[in-house]
Amino acid sequence: MCGIVGYVASENISDKARDVIIEGLARLEYRGYDSAGIALVEDSSIYCQKKEGRLDNLRSIISSHSSSARAGIGHTRWATHGGPTDENAHPHVSFDKRVALVHNGIIENYKDLANELAQKNILSLSETDSEVAVHHLALELEKDNDLFEAMRRLACKLEGSFTLVAIDSHNDGEIVAARRNSPLVVGIGEGAYYLGSDVAAFVGETRKALELGQDTVVRITPTDVDVVKFDGSKTQGTPFEVDWDLDAAGKGNFDTFMDKEIHEEPAAVRKTLTSRVDSANRLVLDELRIDESLLREVNRIIVVACGTASYAGHVAKYALEQWCRIPVEVELAHEFRYRECIVNEKTLVVAISQSGETMDTLMAIRHARENSSKVLAIVNTYGSTIARESDAVLYTHAGPEVAVASTKAFVAQITACYILGLYLAQVRECVSSETITNTLEELNKMPGRIEDVLACEDAVRSLARSMADVQSVLFLGRHVGFPVALEGALKLKELAYIHAEGFAAGELKHGPIALVEEDMPIFVIVPPVSEDVIHSKVISNVQEVRARGARVIAVAEENDLAVGNFVDEEYIVRVPSGVHALMMPLVTVIPLQIFACELARVKGYDVDKPRNLAKSVTVE
Ligand code: F6R
Repeated sequence: MCGIVGYVASENISDKARDVIIEGLARLEYRGYDSAGIALVEDSSIYCQKKEGRLDNLRSIISSHSSSARAGIGHTRWATHGGPTDENAHPHVSFDKRVALVHNGIIENYKDLANELAQKNILSLSETDSEVAVHHLALELEKDNDLFEAMRRLACKLEGSFTLVAIDSHNDGEIVAARRNSPLVVGIGEGAYYLGSDVAAFVGETRKALELGQDTVVRITPTDVDVVKFDGSKTQGTPFEVDWDLDAAGKGNFDTFMDKEIHEEPAAVRKTLTSRVDSANRLVLDELRIDESLLREVNRIIVVACGTASYAGHVAKYALEQWCRIPVEVELAHEFRYRECIVNEKTLVVAISQSGETMDTLMAIRHARENSSKVLAIVNTYGSTIARESDAVLYTHAGPEVAVASTKAFVAQITACYILGLYLAQVRECVSSETITNTLEELNKMPGRIEDVLACEDAVRSLARSMADVQSVLFLGRHVGFPVALEGALKLKELAYIHAEGFAAGELKHGPIALVEEDMPIFVIVPPVSEDVIHSKVISNVQEVRARGARVIAVAEENDLAVGNFVDEEYIVRVPSGVHALMMPLVTVIPLQIFACELARVKGYDVDKPRNLAKSVTVE
């Protein structure tokens, strides 16, 4: 939530700082799009512009302002304290006009800090918790004229979560920042250094980056970086090279990031599967840092995650229990965090997160570790906080996901969970090596199967267009189809803003069937024909809702003839036959994503930036 950019260079090339910052904000806009702002050091003073609404509003003001600045900061906001107005937009400028600052996070003791300021007759112009920070920073700076040290002292005063980045009008050769429980990375260029909420902020300029630890203060100059802890002791960042480029972060030939990312799903699965077996065909997970003996001792797995990532966890539960014979629970991270959970050193907590920065998930991880559990994170973003704070990491290699609604990350997360499940089964010797090899072979076929589904996307899109006026949609599934139903409903809610709910098909008669009325669209995720027991149960569910007037849209195998007896062929979305039952979610979710994307488009909504949302939820 909120995107932050900082830039300082040795040369003041005309408009360069302005353009780098605006470009960085454009790449971070998925983190929040309520308002945007920029501050530059120009002629020993702060030039600041900020505007409510999308970045384009700011662009239209700033494009005519020619700037010779070599240092500046920018911000794109997801509003927490105070509505999305010009006044509440960042950067905030200090009472003495010397300092400008941007903030991501929540400053919990801002009222006390505001009271201290009020005693000095310093009043806030905005309703934000962030503005108090800039005034306090200016007061600290008065003491010794050292912005780095002033930021460190300020960080020690703040409670809550924050990334703060500030510039001083008296010195255009440095930018300082502080972070606690909120993301920040450094970019290392030639004669220029960068700061960003994530590497997308500067990947167009450099792929060399530095990960920063928790509770650190950083100073960048055009040629160097200094890092200290909040107590003032020296520390360092961890260097890494970004393994994707500007093309990966762009839309390519697609209209929206979501379209592009749906089409990247075969590659996301393929890359997540790559290099996982040795020459003896055994799974090797080099990146795991948990001893095999500990994995043998595990007697319970708890998956913690939020939203789509939690549905990937729900899918994984079926496979993990089947292959590893370990009980698996899936918990929403924010619920897990605030209850007296019963975990111990034999509990393996698996945290799933695309961004690696979701605060709820991070807090759940800390809670689990405080209670002696080992935490294994399944994360897409290299160097993210969740990756750093977990005992082990298994990366999904989906590449950057920019659209706010998660798509390719979901299939990559399921794939990574399956690799983990097979690995645990191998370590614990609970399935034969032949089964592991065969299952891996099935997994390796999945990118091709997803491509087959994508080849039929036009039919799904025209179905969506024909349903532009629907008010409410239900999704039903059983077994691994149940979390797919939940995910289908979530996609529709967040993108098309219509009421949608997912149910376990077996639950229908216990209440939800009362919702069914004439012509109500109900998506049914039909299990493979080979799973005859649950398949016939779902076919019965289809008949039950049809009998009550529902319009059933079935997602079913190509060779599923039974479904054709009850659903018109134009309402059947076919997926390839012969997919392993546990792997069906990797194909059945695709039409649901396309459907939601197209329905949102036809309703005229911004597919990549749905209202009220932001990617990377870095506040609790
Ligand atoms: C929905 C969506 C969210 C995220 C959730 C967790 O399309 O994207 O529900 O899945 O906020 O985010 P990560 O995976 O970054 O922890």
